[in-house]
Amino acid sequence: MKAAITTTAKYLPEEIISNSDLERMLDTTDEWIRTRTGIRERRILRDPEKATSFMCTEVARQLLDKRGISADEIDLIIVATMSPDMIFPSTACIVQGNIGASKAWGFDLSAACSGFVYGLYTGAQFIESGNCRKVMVIGADKMTSILDFTDRSTAILFGDGAAGVILEPAREEGFGILDARLYSDGKNGKEHLLMPAGGSLHPASHETVDNRMHYIRQDGKQVFKAAVMAMADVAEEIMQRNNLTAENIDWLVPHQANQRIIQATAERMGIGMDKVMMNIEYYGNTTAGTVPICLAELDEQNKLHSGSNIVLASFGAGYTWGSVYIKWQ
Ligand code: UT7
Repeated sequence: MKAAITTTAKYLPEEIISNSDLERMLDTTDEWIRTRTGIRERRILRDPEKATSFMCTEVARQLLDKRGISADEIDLIIVATMSPDMIFPSTACIVQGNIGASKAWGFDLSAACSGFVYGLYTGAQFIESGNCRKVMVIGADKMTSILDFTDRSTAILFGDGAAGVILEPAREEGFGILDARLYSDGKNGKEHLLMPAGGSLHPASHETVDNRMHYIRQDGKQVFKAAVMAMADVAEEIMQRNNLTAENIDWLVPHQANQRIIQATAERMGIGMDKVMMNIEYYGNTTAGTVPICLAELDEQNKLHSGSNIVLASFGAGYTWGSVYIKWQ
């Protein structure tokens, strides 16, 4: 029995930071940001009292509402994030408490930008095994909490946002999450995209704060090259394994890190940009949020139909990357 997505929902904070706002804070231009990344604006959850769990809770409440079920019907909550409220307790437990999911267990999943794709496949296993009937998978990041607003090479890229799905047993054979290929490469990835301090290697100290080690650091060029290659490879692999062609794919839903990476992936798959979900322009890179936000928007716009062939593809810190094939029910 396969797992199918039965409900989607998203939450984006209202406040916008535009490229021109960033021009006033950093040595950058709207033109540079737009042409190199495709981003025009991103959202910020400014309220210091509100963290990643706030956005997840908003998503979780909408999911319950839309599906018309009560919180105690949820068996498992997976929150994919790299900006949890704190190292422990998990954000998943905070969300479980907030919505009163009295019968659910849950955990956070750390796979950076691939978090939702990893989480979706993980959640699907619990449905397929028959151990769970309803699983919430949420991807969320309050990236502005770990952005160095003096570093123009990263500050322009990211934004805050969250979205998620409910997974349930598919109604019919041949529908739902039909295949996935997931990968990791710590050997090449670990140096190029990281937040150096705050864990057990470099616990918070005056030195780590002075050296700005609690912010995201990225070697953009290295990550760009690796992302272009890996996302295109894995998307092509999922196509071949499932006899998918440029014609019978309805939507590519890629991680939104850079418009140029997305275009390269679509090109390798041979599909036109009219079949590629892209909203990087409005939200930037929301890390674990990008793929489910895209899915939720496609769903809101009634662009997902029974039988639609959907390919998800992601790449992120670790490195982690992967692709999922969904036959929408
Ligand atoms: O989601 C996780 C995975 N992350 C990614 O997939 C991100 C992958 N990387 C990228 O998307 C791109 O590498 C960036 C958008 C981060 C950078 O674009 P790039 O075309 O690789 O630029 P670059 O880093 O090679 O920098 C080119 C120039 C440099 O100046 P010089 O050395 O040529 O004089 C940078 O200093 O652009 C400069 N630059 C900027 N200029 C204006 C870097 N950031 C900025 C900026 N505004 N914000």
